[in-house]
Amino acid sequence: MAQQEDVFKKIVSHCKEYGFVFPSSDIYDGLGAVYDYGQNGVELKNNIKQYWWQSMVLLHENIVGIDAAIFMHPTTWKASGHVDAFNDPLIDNRDSKKRYRADVLIEDQLAKYEDKIQKEIEKAQKRFGDAFDEAQFRATNARVLENQEKFDALHKRYQEVMNAEGGIDLEGMKQIILDEGIVCPISGTRNWTDVRQFNLMFKTEMGSTADGASTIYLRPETAQGIFVNYLNVQKTGRMKLPFGIAQIGKAFRNEIVARQFIFRMREFEQMEMQFFIKPGTELDWFAKWKETRMKWHQNLGFGAENYRFHDHDKLAHYANAATDIEFHMPFGFKEVEGIHSRTNFDLSQHAKYSGKKIEYFDPETNESYTPYVIETSIGVDRMFLSIMCHSYEEQQLPDGQTRTVLHLPAALAPVKLAVFPLTKKDGMPEKAQEIINDLRFHFNCKYEEKDQIGKRYRRMDTIGCPYCVTVDQQTLEDNTVTLRDRDTMEQRRVAIGDLRGIIEDKVSITSLLKKLL
Ligand code: GAP
Repeated sequence: MAQQEDVFKKIVSHCKEYGFVFPSSDIYDGLGAVYDYGQNGVELKNNIKQYWWQSMVLLHENIVGIDAAIFMHPTTWKASGHVDAFNDPLIDNRDSKKRYRADVLIEDQLAKYEDKIQKEIEKAQKRFGDAFDEAQFRATNARVLENQEKFDALHKRYQEVMNAEGGIDLEGMKQIILDEGIVCPISGTRNWTDVRQFNLMFKTEMGSTADGASTIYLRPETAQGIFVNYLNVQKTGRMKLPFGIAQIGKAFRNEIVARQFIFRMREFEQMEMQFFIKPGTELDWFAKWKETRMKWHQNLGFGAENYRFHDHDKLAHYANAATDIEFHMPFGFKEVEGIHSRTNFDLSQHAKYSGKKIEYFDPETNESYTPYVIETSIGVDRMFLSIMCHSYEEQQLPDGQTRTVLHLPAALAPVKLAVFPLTKKDGMPEKAQEIINDLRFHFNCKYEEKDQIGKRYRRMDTIGCPYCVTVDQQTLEDNTVTLRDRDTMEQRRVAIGDLRGIIEDKVSITSLLKKLL
């Protein structure tokens, strides 16, 4: 675990050192849980967004995109339930004066029991080798059974308090924390306050006070911009059910416990798609979107074992089924995307609060109804983090040296091709520029002439550039260059005229999209 934490620290410094992610307002020592993306970060982020957008809008004839404003009419948030119910249950430790999310403390405790079980299984696996039968071991080993029993009992209590009638049972939550003997990681004590609810929306004012300013909110999710535009899009696009509306944009939450770098931020970006369907078909569509979205993630080639679904114990106020896609980060399996069956809650609420009829006339059955919705909602920043975590490697080389390399999926890499003149003379820089001038219309290229070639390769490895090309004396004679592959470090001689054909297919988002079909 400590080793994994070290790796995570290294990834965070790597992000800063190589122009991926900087603390916001860095010269003023940063702003809590707010980050800026640097010259390489913004390219990677744009590529992630493009991969998502094209997989939704290009690959589905019945999904269209919008870009709604961040500011919305304040009644939106009353109708959606966010003013009354978008809260986190918080608890303070009186000795350390630190504040925690009570639900996270309990979930961490559940994870501890799971970890203990997993460790027993791994130990036994090593001991018994091929003869190991996990199911039998789980059913008979005393330590596994004891921890499973503790896990099940806590899980049951947790579900009860989270789904209590009239909202979360705050007293019940505190009692669980006391009964489980959960201590503050800083002070090590159990000196806890009561659990209180805290609304996560940022407020601001629109208009001057003299004019009678009104309170408005920074949107905590992009989804509501889609719901309030349902009628506009359905009518102007003459959309027939089932159809989807996709959107990428900023969202804001006043997270109290903002931890783990860009995993939990106060200003972040979401890629959301609301899929409008006929009531009664929601469980089929929920299953279909679970599968489609998991395929999108696994298509990046990080290994199926690094993903899992996690069904929600507590359903959001709008959902009748919900699951997360979790990714194996250095700090455990963590949510990257949520898939929710939101019923007709949002559209019905907006109809009620706006007084507008928000319905769909079904030409097949000649009836009108409020559509149901399946939502897929993924955080761009969490996706970015999962990609960085999986791609980062400190690789031991056969000659005893170490290189730091980002094995980014080529289609997402910020720079696709670096071109180096071997020396700064004999027309080599000019030839290198000529290659770039030709290829820059097709993918992102970079010119580098400083330092030895080996050092330049290493620099490109640190930003995950999949290909490097070196122009040397031979190039000037026969128009061939050395093409070096980031992952294998293999070098081969290729004709300049073949470069585009070799590289473009591997680095284009289209290559990723084709694998989805
Ligand atoms: N419209 C539904 C919705 O917003 P959510 O589970 O609260 O659902 C969806 O958020 C996704 O947005 C999460 O899976 C996560 O990737 C991202 N996200 C949520 N809060 C975040 C935060 N504070 N920082 C970074 N990403 C966040």
